[in-house]
Order: sequence, then structure tokens, then C-alpha cells
Amino acid sequence: MFKRFRRTRINPKLRDLLTQIRLSVDDFIYPLFIKAGEEGYKKEIASMPGVYQMSIDEAVKECDELKRLGLYAIILFGIPEVKDSVGSDALCDHGVIAESIRAIKAAHPDMLVVSDLCFCEYTDHGHCGILDLEHETVDNDATLKILGQQAIVHAKAGVDMIAPSGMMDGMITAIRTALDKAGLINIPIMSYSTKFASAYYGPFRDVAESAPSFGDRRSYQMNPANRDEAILESLEDEKEGADILMVKPGLAYLDILRDIRNNTRLPLAVYNVSGEYAMLKHAGEAGLIDYERVMMETLLGFKRAGADIIITYHAKEAAALLQKG
Ligand code: PBG
Ligand code: ZN
Repeated sequence: MFKRFRRTRINPKLRDLLTQIRLSVDDFIYPLFIKAGEEGYKKEIASMPGVYQMSIDEAVKECDELKRLGLYAIILFGIPEVKDSVGSDALCDHGVIAESIRAIKAAHPDMLVVSDLCFCEYTDHGHCGILDLEHETVDNDATLKILGQQAIVHAKAGVDMIAPSGMMDGMITAIRTALDKAGLINIPIMSYSTKFASAYYGPFRDVAESAPSFGDRRSYQMNPANRDEAILESLEDEKEGADILMVKPGLAYLDILRDIRNNTRLPLAVYNVSGEYAMLKHAGEAGLIDYERVMMETLLGFKRAGADIIITYHAKEAAALLQKG
């Protein structure tokens, strides 16, 4: 006696009935890279075909296309005109992200605009906060102070949700306290709660112009070898008041995604990062894989592992495929 699993696989209609996990356009957040300066600017990034740096006016136009595809959620990254040691552009009401939020929300009040909250794109040294030169790292507590300021700048510009990505200890407490004190009690925080020091961020640093000018991020981002610490990091952000947790990168960390899913009731996001996108894209262009099928299988894997939200550069292509049905 053995079980005939194939009995329920033969009829395609029955296969449909028994499908457990389905991707939807509502699962996705699409990243946009906005460059300060001249209008009408749109430049494709060689390491990430299909991904562009664009000026604010181009980003506003891009949202029309996203909405046609049914995509209403974006996460913004900024490339300022001027960088300095503390990332002043990110702390100013007229910095590139503040202006982008205002312009996009004015033209598209129906879009959900999320802002990445960090300093690496705004500092001349490319690290995620204020430097502690003596120890060749980022000064945690000095950075907490300006993270609160940055959050208020984004919130006052009209952002719908804030996503701190700098891996500073105590960042959720600091940001929540700053927002609440300013009366901004209804701005949710999606924390990059478990973020690893990963080589998969390589292409992102080209498009965001945020590679560190010395050293690396291993003194603040997590060691990929540590499973228990990965869970603790997310649970700590839950305690501090995060509304949504995140695991980043995705593909090499599906076990962590599932572990955290099993340890919290909070919604969970995954960041399908630049290097993961680039691998599929370049393999597809080389004719080595069926790009569309591999993409959908990958996105499904994130959802099956426990992600409620998938931040992905594939969002437009996936949305178009889902529209076709
Ligand atoms: C900024 C930030 C990074 C990413 C998202 N926010 C880069 C980094 O930490 O170096 C990576 C996203 C990607 O690779 O797609 N802290
Ligand atoms: Zn950063």
C-alpha cells in the first residue's frame, strides 16, 4: 500500500483547486532610485538591466506606469547632489527624498510611498551613519539621534511608511519616540530588522552610489552564519515597536525567513536584493534559464517561506505576468 500523490496532479483544474500559495500584485513593493539635479534624467544601471536612476519628475511619470500594472507600493532611495560626513541632505526638508515624497504624493495620493531610512547614500564616506573614527565603525548612539530627525523630515513630507535599514541598535525605539513626540503617531515602521552583511548588495551600491569608501559594513550588519542572532534581532525590533519586520537578503536566507515567521505574529517582509535580481536577469539574457518562470518560482518561494511583503526589482515584470493570467 502506498499513497498515489499523482492522483491529484493529473487534472489541471484540480491542480488549480489545490494550489496553496498564490502571488498577487498586492504582495510587491517596487524600489525607485531618485537622483537630485536635472529634470528629465533617466539612466539604466549596467549591473541591473531594467533598473534606472531617475529624476523626481521621471519618478512621478513612472508611477503612472506602475499603477497601470496594478502596483501601488514603492520604496524610495535617494542620490543627493552633495554628500557630507553626516548626510545633511537626508536631514533637510528640501533634500532629494523629502522633495520626492512631496512630488509623488501630490501627483499620486493613491500610491503607498515608503522611504528607506539610512545615511549611506548621503554620507561622503558611504557608511550608514556618523563615523566613530577611533574604532573604524559607525557611532551607534550619535546615529540614533539623526535617525529620529530623518524620520520626522520624511513624515512631514508626507511619507506613508518609514523603513530604517541601517542596523543601528535601538533604532526602532529612537525613531518611534521621535515620531510620537512630533505627533506623528500614525506613521508605521517597517524595520529592516534582520539584515545581513551581504555581497548580494553589490549592484545596489552602483545604482544608489552608496559603496563605503573604506572597510565594510560587518561591524553593524549581521554575520550570515548566525541563525539564533538573526531571530533575536527581529524579535528585539518587535519589542521596540516595529510594525513590520524584514529579512534581507532573501534567497540565501529562506530558512531565517521561516524561523522568524514561526516566532512572531507581526507581518513579515523580505527584500529580494539587487544581486539576486542581477543573477536572474543576466542568466536570462544569456539564454541560460527561462527568466520569467525562474522569476515567478523565486517570488513564490519567498511567499511560501513566510513573506507577506516582497520588495523586488521584478515587481513590474511579475505584475505584467499576473495581469496576463
Ligand atoms: C542601505 C540599503 C542597502 C540596501 C537597501 N538599503 C545597501 C547596503 O546596506 O549596503 C540593499 C538593497 C539591494 O541590494 O537591493 N542601507
Ligand atoms: Zn545604509
